[in-house]
Amino acid sequence: MFEVLPPLPADPILGLSAAYKEDQNPKKIDLGVGVYKDEQGNTPILKSVAKAQQILLDTETTKTYIAPQGVSGFLSGMKELLFGANHPAILEDRITAVQSPGGTGALRLLAELIARGNPEATVWVSDPTWANHIPIFETAGLKIEKYPYFDKESRGIRFDAMMETLLKVNKGDIVLLHGCCHNPTGQDLNQAQWQAVLEAAQKTGFVPFIDVAYQGFGDGLDEDAYGIRLLSENLPEMILSASCSKNFGLYRERTGMACVVTASNEIRRNLQTQIQSVARANYSMPPSWGAALVDIILNDPELKALWQSEVSEMRNRMQDLRALLVKKLQEKGAAMDFGFVTQQKGMFSFLCISPEQVQQMRAESAVYFVDSSRVNIAGISLSNVDDLAEALVKVL
Ligand code: LMR
Repeated sequence: MFEVLPPLPADPILGLSAAYKEDQNPKKIDLGVGVYKDEQGNTPILKSVAKAQQILLDTETTKTYIAPQGVSGFLSGMKELLFGANHPAILEDRITAVQSPGGTGALRLLAELIARGNPEATVWVSDPTWANHIPIFETAGLKIEKYPYFDKESRGIRFDAMMETLLKVNKGDIVLLHGCCHNPTGQDLNQAQWQAVLEAAQKTGFVPFIDVAYQGFGDGLDEDAYGIRLLSENLPEMILSASCSKNFGLYRERTGMACVVTASNEIRRNLQTQIQSVARANYSMPPSWGAALVDIILNDPELKALWQSEVSEMRNRMQDLRALLVKKLQEKGAAMDFGFVTQQKGMFSFLCISPEQVQQMRAESAVYFVDSSRVNIAGISLSNVDDLAEALVKVL
C-alpha cells in the first residue's frame, strides 16, 4: 500500500543539519537549526542540569509510569516561571496544564484540543512564523491564515497592517503569538504593541495562543514573560505552549508544557480531563527525565540561581555575537546596514537577503542557514565571524 506515497522534500530546518554534516569543507559554518552553541561549537549540558542529573541518578527508585499530567513540581515550577508567582489564575487554580514531549508536543496537543472545542476555528499565524507551526495545526485539521508581521524592506514589524488584520479576526479564532524571541525574525512586540494586541482580543473575542520557546533569551526571564502575563491577566482564556529545549538546554529530552488559562476552576477541571485524553490517545504518558530535572532545578534555590545565571550567560553571549557580526560587516565594507541585527532578540535574526543569496553563501562559502535568511546567532563564534562576514559581503 505504501508505494502510493511520494517522497517529500527535506524539512527546511532539519534538512540543513543533514546537508551540513555531509559537507567536507573544514571552514563550514552552521547557522541552521536553533540550538545554542558555545565558542567551540558544542551544545553543552548546563551545569545546573548536570547537578540535577546527579541528584536524580542518586534518588530515582523506579521507572514506573509517571502521572498522565506529568511531574507535579515541574508543572507548578513552570507555571510560576511563565505566569509569575502571584498570578490570579495560579491563585484561583484556573490553569489547565500537562507536561508534553517538547514544545512541539505541546503545540500539537493544544491544536487537537482547539479542534475539539471549535473545529471551525481559524488559526492566525505571523507571516513569517516557525516552519513547523503550519504543519502542526494543519495536521490537527485546523484552517490557517497569516497576519502581516515582518517587513524585510524596513526590517521591522508591520504593526499597523498586523492590527488591521487582527481587528477583523472572528470571535473564537486563534491568534498564535511568539511570547519572545520571535522565530524566525528575532523581532519582538514592545509593551505598547502587546497592549494593542490585548485590546484587539478584547474587542473581537479571538483567543491568543502564545508559544514560548526562548524565555530568558530576549531581555530576561521575567521581561520575556511580559506579553504572557499581560494577556492572561486580562482575558478570560489564553492558550500557551512552552519548551524547555533552549533555556534548559534539554533539547533531546523533549520537555515542554501545554497550558490553557480558563475563566473558572470548574472549566479548568473539565478541560484537564480533555487535554489528558488527547495526550492518552497520542502517546499515553509523558517522558520523565527532562521534567524531573526541571522540577529539581526550579525547586532548589541554589540550583535555580545557578540556572538563572547560565540563562543570562547564554543571552549575553548571543547579544555580544550580534554586535560583533555587525561590527565585522561594517569593517569589511558591507553594502548594507545590518544595525537592525543588534535590535533583534534571542537566537534568530533575519539577514533580509534573498533565497538566492542564501544559497550562494551555502554553495560558495559553506555557510548553512535557512532560505528565508534566518540565522542562528548562537552558531557564530570568534573563530568563524570573519569568514561569515566575508561570505555575506561577497553576495550582497
Ligand atoms: C528551530 O527553529 O530551529 C528549532 O526550534 C528546532 C526545530 O525543531 O525546528
